[in-house]
Amino acid sequence: MKLKRLPSLLSLVAAILFSCQSKTTNESAMKPAENDVHSFAQPNDARVTHLHWRARVDFETKTIKAIASWTIETNPDTDIILLDTKGLNIEKITLDEDVPTTFRLAESDSLLGEALAVLIRPTTKKVNIHYQTSPEAEAIQWLSPQQTSGKQFPFLFTQSQAILARSWVPCQDSPGVRFTYNAEVIVPKDLLALMSASNPSSKNAEGVYHFEMKQPIPSYLLALSVGDFVFAPISDRSGVYAEPGVIDTAAWEFVDMEKMIAGAEVLYGAYPWERYDVLVLPPSFPFGGMENPRLTFATPTLLAGDRSLTSVIAHELAHSWSGNLVTNATWNDFWLNEGFTVYFETRIMEKLYGRDYAEMLASLNLHGLKEEVQSMLQDGHGADTRLKLNLKGRNPDEGVTEIAYIKGYYFLRSIEEQHGRGKFDAFVKDYFKQNAFQGMTTERFVPFIKDYYQKQFALSLDDAFFNKWIFSEGLPDDCPSPASVKFNEVDKVITNWKSTQELEYDVTKNWSTHEWLHFLKNLPAKLTLPQMASLDEAGGFTASGNAEIITVWGVLAIQHHYEKAYPKIETFLINTGRRKFLMPLYGEMIKTKEGKKRALSIYGKARPNYHYVATSSLDKLLEVKL
Ligand code: BES
Ligand code: ZN
Repeated sequence: MKLKRLPSLLSLVAAILFSCQSKTTNESAMKPAENDVHSFAQPNDARVTHLHWRARVDFETKTIKAIASWTIETNPDTDIILLDTKGLNIEKITLDEDVPTTFRLAESDSLLGEALAVLIRPTTKKVNIHYQTSPEAEAIQWLSPQQTSGKQFPFLFTQSQAILARSWVPCQDSPGVRFTYNAEVIVPKDLLALMSASNPSSKNAEGVYHFEMKQPIPSYLLALSVGDFVFAPISDRSGVYAEPGVIDTAAWEFVDMEKMIAGAEVLYGAYPWERYDVLVLPPSFPFGGMENPRLTFATPTLLAGDRSLTSVIAHELAHSWSGNLVTNATWNDFWLNEGFTVYFETRIMEKLYGRDYAEMLASLNLHGLKEEVQSMLQDGHGADTRLKLNLKGRNPDEGVTEIAYIKGYYFLRSIEEQHGRGKFDAFVKDYFKQNAFQGMTTERFVPFIKDYYQKQFALSLDDAFFNKWIFSEGLPDDCPSPASVKFNEVDKVITNWKSTQELEYDVTKNWSTHEWLHFLKNLPAKLTLPQMASLDEAGGFTASGNAEIITVWGVLAIQHHYEKAYPKIETFLINTGRRKFLMPLYGEMIKTKEGKKRALSIYGKARPNYHYVATSSLDKLLEVKL
């Protein structure tokens, strides 16, 4: 066991405790895990395999009091196990059936938290950690009744990805470490608890709920939500949980969920997690969706009323294979999770709604990717435009860019296009099958796909191709380009509008959200106020209930000082916590002095509604020091 990763100012006792450190032996039957710069754990010496979590959720004190009993596997000569924690108040730790032991928490690192070292014996099978979360636990958002749809009951949800699980469960918080879990969770009697596991479908009188996750998962997929939920089935194996006032809308919006699961299975193999349900959260949820196994967490901004934003559900569902089954071994390999998932998502959408629909999505994505690549290269962040990242000493959140998602997608698509879809589909299916429930690094992915194409199709894939896409900056010149007939029509309307200043109502009246998004993103860079006003009148953008449209339009409105949209932008920013919408709107506002003042004033009102994930990005953007 290497001690150098523990900060040096440990107490004397700890020094004695650690002086009998063991070396890693080669006799170990344990499979080696990747070195993860975002975790203190040393899973090659001692690792967790199962979690038994008993917890009581207290909305009064905003804390969870819990016992995390970890079943462990160790090398014979290892005498400590290292776990990740952040802000946990640890009361005591025992081994096996309550044998006392010694533990130490290392000095706090503002990003990674506090390493927890527990003294174990060669025969130790279980480590029982009695602890309480801090009211500021970064993964957990505690919502007042006012912040929910029903306004009657409090609400809680967790967001563990990437390295926040450690703020609510002491764990080996690395995507390369997997474990099964079961849990008993006690909540106020009028509320229901749900986890990323087998779930209840209704409340019980005791407020005590039991969960089981039989397949091994990494810690970033641990999830809990507590609130006033009801359930609506969509098929035998899927359904929606939401607050009572939202459930019908949600069940209508996501009606195609079973078709998505079935379509995904036809593409890349049987759905491996039994059930697939979606939980619609309150608007402060910082993401579009989060692929918690068996229970995707989703933002209510997907409920557009026209089913136009359901590709996010296809995306989270696709993660059931790409990510949850074959997992990026470290956050530097994040593109393996997201690039594959965008590829799979796009294929699901194509299967259900046709090629042109999928090409619209791919085209909107490419637009965003090009913008981001350009600004990253300009701002001196060129290294982050590589698929393989180096996030050492940085927050893995900084790797959440269009690169992992969309450059990753286009990389895979270009393999598909070069050698044919039949071959690529056979590869993807086998890639999931052969690496199921394991971590994958970029460095192992390259030989894996090369071997596969060689053995199956006698094709040798070129190293230069991989180097160009994975280890080089920017976007290769031969990046595939999507072709959408519908978007070609939109382009014609734009051309026509430029010369006549008229929008052809007969054409635009049938446009979907995607066509309008393409339209708004391809308008001339400079617009006059009368042009903004007439566009608004024709497209109804300021009045739109679609969060994607409001965001793109809002950015245009701020750029062009179109003040009529300002009140709408303000209410939207106060009521929505999804980072993807907040960042561009605030980001555009702060480009002028006047705008920055407005941004800060809105942020002052909105910040209490946002999750830590959003405030940590926005505090930086707006240079707010607390
Ligand atoms: N797993 C991600 C969300 C995430 C990434 C959380 C990194 C924390 C760290 C999720 O699957 C995702 O990608 N969500 C997207 C949706 C999407 C369709 C691109 C989102 O929230 O916008
Ligand atoms: Zn994703």
